[in-house]
Amino acid sequence: MLIRLQKFLAEAQVASRRKSEEIIAQGRVTVNGEVADTPGVKVDAEKDIICVDGKLVKKAEKMVYIILNKPEGCVTTVKDQFNRKTVMDYVSDVRQRIYPIGRLDYNTSGLLILTNDGDLAYRLTHPKHNIEKTYIACVEKTPSSDDMESFRRGIIIDGRKTAPAYIEIIGKNKLEIKIHEGRNRQVRKMCEAIGSPVITLERVAIGNLKLDNLDKGKYRHLSVDEIEYIKGL
Ligand code: URA
Repeated sequence: MLIRLQKFLAEAQVASRRKSEEIIAQGRVTVNGEVADTPGVKVDAEKDIICVDGKLVKKAEKMVYIILNKPEGCVTTVKDQFNRKTVMDYVSDVRQRIYPIGRLDYNTSGLLILTNDGDLAYRLTHPKHNIEKTYIACVEKTPSSDDMESFRRGIIIDGRKTAPAYIEIIGKNKLEIKIHEGRNRQVRKMCEAIGSPVITLERVAIGNLKLDNLDKGKYRHLSVDEIEYIKGL
């Protein structure tokens, strides 16, 4: 497919479209060895060899956004030094080099986003964004209302107080929990701290992005609206 040279350069993150037009006009871009300085020139991103200042520009990779319902018993990494199952073992048919955003414990199941969009990964995991994550925890003992109140206000784990959080009982020994931080094993430690150790833990939502009825071990590509939504979080 033919696209305008400045669009190709902008997508490949050489510069903004406007700046790329300038770079083209300055005669710094070659297409198959010939200087391409005519405005509006089109290129074939699959076949043409495009250089800026003599350096090859690689075609932008297609961005991929998927959600996986991570099962228990696998690590949230691309490779594991101990050869354990990883979340990547559940994803087939994706050619791009995707990786998980954030982490779920080995024994936690639920919603995990995988992408090759480094900007999104950076923004979603940056602590300043405070994105709400919703979990369903089955616990050994239903907490008292006092315990739940301290959970909501914040409790000390690893020597530091947690930010205000949401907790409600939704069934026998079953809790819905929403937190905005992403500290190590945070939900497990918070439940432990109020005397209700976790038996099973599942993440069911990140912001408004929900697992819904995606089966464990299955994944799906996000819709255009969902991609827009998570980029705006
Ligand atoms: N909190 C935990 O304790 N574990 C997870 O995997 C996610 C949040």
